Amino acid sequence: MVATLTKLTYQTLQQGKSYLSFAHKMLSIQARKALKPNELPTIPVPPQLITELQQRVDKLQAVDWQDAENGVYPTSLLFDEPWVDYLRQYPSLVVDMPSIWQRADSKRYQDFDRTIETDGYPSYYVQNFHHQTGGYLSDMSANLYDLQVEILFGGSADAMRRRILAPLQAGLKAFSDVPAKQIRILDAACGTARTLRGVRAMLPQASLFGVDLSGAYLRKANEQLADMPGELVQLLQGNIEELPYVDNYFHAVTCVFLFHELPPAVRQKAIDECYRVLKPGGTFVICDSIQISDSPQMEAMMHMFHETFHEPYYRSYMDDNLVERLHKAGFTEVLPTEVHFMSKYLVAKKPLS
Ligand SMILES: C[S@@+](CC[C@H](N)C(=O)[O-])C[C@H]1O[C@@H](n2cnc3c(N)ncnc32)[C@H](O)[C@@H]1O
Repeated sequence: MVATLTKLTYQTLQQGKSYLSFAHKMLSIQARKALKPNELPTIPVPPQLITELQQRVDKLQAVDWQDAENGVYPTSLLFDEPWVDYLRQYPSLVVDMPSIWQRADSKRYQDFDRTIETDGYPSYYVQNFHHQTGGYLSDMSANLYDLQVEILFGGSADAMRRRILAPLQAGLKAFSDVPAKQIRILDAACGTARTLRGVRAMLPQASLFGVDLSGAYLRKANEQLADMPGELVQLLQGNIEELPYVDNYFHAVTCVFLFHELPPAVRQKAIDECYRVLKPGGTFVICDSIQISDSPQMEAMMHMFHETFHEPYYRSYMDDNLVERLHKAGFTEVLPTEVHFMSKYLVAKKPLS
């Protein structure tokens, strides 16, 4: 009875988030039309694609619920929403919309105000990804990011992130003789720590680490992790191309929504580095955008995403062979790829010798 009620509440919450995201998208289309009445109308999404997307969302929710019910993570994680923060940030998100449109219309992709320090970052990174004000380099961008991503994915972003948890738990079985407190897990490109919150809920005792290039996103991550029980998560500012950790240090490494934002050669470097810092027998879990190889029916949508949002490396990502890259780095065992809604999951093991 309790489980049925909880499931119903979870489904209602997801439905509610999906309606709210839809309402925001409609508002944004209307606002843009009012500002630019002569602009060409947006291309409607074909009905079969809408059906496919809805089926994928339904399956994602079913798996999300199932994993919680099976005890992979506590059911409370399904309701872990920073509502107060979202409400606080929403007015800023709306106020920022016209500058995003202007930036997109004038194709200004490296548009940073003078207060933002861009020196010292790799050139591929100094971009307004998704036309975001401040790119990844401002506190405002860090404050709006989670809400923007939830809206983009119709309220399913965290459910997609949570799909790394079951393979992570399975991978850690290789270290069942290691005391829980001595298990070390790194989330590479951790952003504002939505993934780390999920990992902490599943593994309250493990030592957790997060690395990201953005100081602003790490500040936000710190804030978002402050109310979590357990040891403090150790956050470091650093480049995934040169991870600031010794070889063979982590029992598992996760990486969520990064690879589509890296140029091809950097993708390989990133995988090589994750391999280096993993212990033999350790597991590497990647969650990133779907690709043509696993979702050919979504190819048109992927092109649209690449063109509409500023995602400069997405085109090359769409048909990049990540499995080949994992093998090239030294991973001998790569599990079959899973797909959940708009994301794919690659799980690779570092060989014992
Ligand atoms: C799309 S966000 C994903 C953030 C987070 N993993 C999530 O699930 O929301 C990409 C993140 O990668 C970080 N990033 C991009 N290039 C990086 C690099 N070379 N090294 C470390 N972090 C990087 C950005 O600062 C940003 O936080």
